[in-house]
Amino acid sequence: MKEYPFQRLADTNARFAERLKEAACRVIDSGWYLMGPETKAFEEELALFLGTGHAVGTANGLEAIRLTFKALMELGRLKPGDGVLVPANTFIASVLPLTQLGLKPRPVDPDYSTMSVSLSMMADAADADTRAALPVHLYGFPAYDAEGLERLKNAGIIIVEDNAQAIGAEINVSGRDTSIRTGSIGDAAAISFYPAKNIGALGDAGAVVTSDPVLAETVRQLSNYGGSRKYRYDFQGFNSRMDEMQAAMLRVKLPDTVAERDRREASAQEYDRAITNPLITKPPRDRHFRQAWHQYVVRCSRRDELAEHLRHNGVETMIHYPLPPHRQRCYEGKIVGHFPVADRLADEVLSLPIANITPYDAKEISSIINRFK
Ligand SMILES: Cc1ncc(COP(=O)(O)O)c(C=O)c1O
Repeated sequence: MKEYPFQRLADTNARFAERLKEAACRVIDSGWYLMGPETKAFEEELALFLGTGHAVGTANGLEAIRLTFKALMELGRLKPGDGVLVPANTFIASVLPLTQLGLKPRPVDPDYSTMSVSLSMMADAADADTRAALPVHLYGFPAYDAEGLERLKNAGIIIVEDNAQAIGAEINVSGRDTSIRTGSIGDAAAISFYPAKNIGALGDAGAVVTSDPVLAETVRQLSNYGGSRKYRYDFQGFNSRMDEMQAAMLRVKLPDTVAERDRREASAQEYDRAITNPLITKPPRDRHFRQAWHQYVVRCSRRDELAEHLRHNGVETMIHYPLPPHRQRCYEGKIVGHFPVADRLADEVLSLPIANITPYDAKEISSIINRFK
């Protein structure tokens, strides 16, 4: 029986292996391991790719979110107690930095058909205490609509994108020839280069991107104990920098971002075409979006049985995510409200293999899915 692992990171990195080794040797021989030429070059290349003007390497994606919000607070643009809109069905790392900084997460229940919270949905949920929004491009599906963006901007709400899962995703803005990339929509965006991401480091890494030079500089200082000059500190900062080794690895992989998205798109198209089982709901499509397909997520009311059927037939799956933040013990009594769609999605979602598979594999996996009764 052919096995379909969910993702083997050695396979993910195989196509880059020689160049990664060369880059690693270059860093080792340079003797420069932090805040050096690799990080500087990677930041420039990332900012150029996203068209944001500025990028600051961070230790990981959670820290990218935390540093962005902390910088907004240091700059007086946010204060403790301010409400921040966030999807109810996101990964815990979207919410942890908010509560850790004394901000108030305001979960917004997602739309069942897109599994996502659009900017319009966030604008609808905003109240007098809302000062910021953290849209999440979950699974690589852009949380974007032009009207919602306009409404949030007009309400003076700061937009920080959680672009951890969507590097390479694009939006075709109607009436314009060009596309915009997720990560360049809001006031700033956080990116994760966790090894299993579409563009993954060989360890932890992340970045903050923004067109705002003051915000970028504040994030940079906060990531480096709170100062720009050695032994002089303007802020009570953190040690949360990207290191030279990860930057060198990412410089090898960043130019592959669009090709990686398109490889995933080819497999996603095959899943879309070949899955015909009426018990399964396939992921959303929007003709204005080029999704990054970080995950290919189907829904099924008998999800656990479906996962078992797939496992029995050699297909490894995962659940993103089995328990939303508001139902985690760490937020018991701290995040209040009912989020029935997020709860339902947590019971129904199942991620199929999408990294490292071919459209032919997607076809084979689809025929296994179609045999599920
Ligand atoms: C939506 C989302 N936000 C934030 C993060 C945090 O990124 P990291 O794992 O690099 O800390 C991740 C990834 O794990 C994520 O998927």
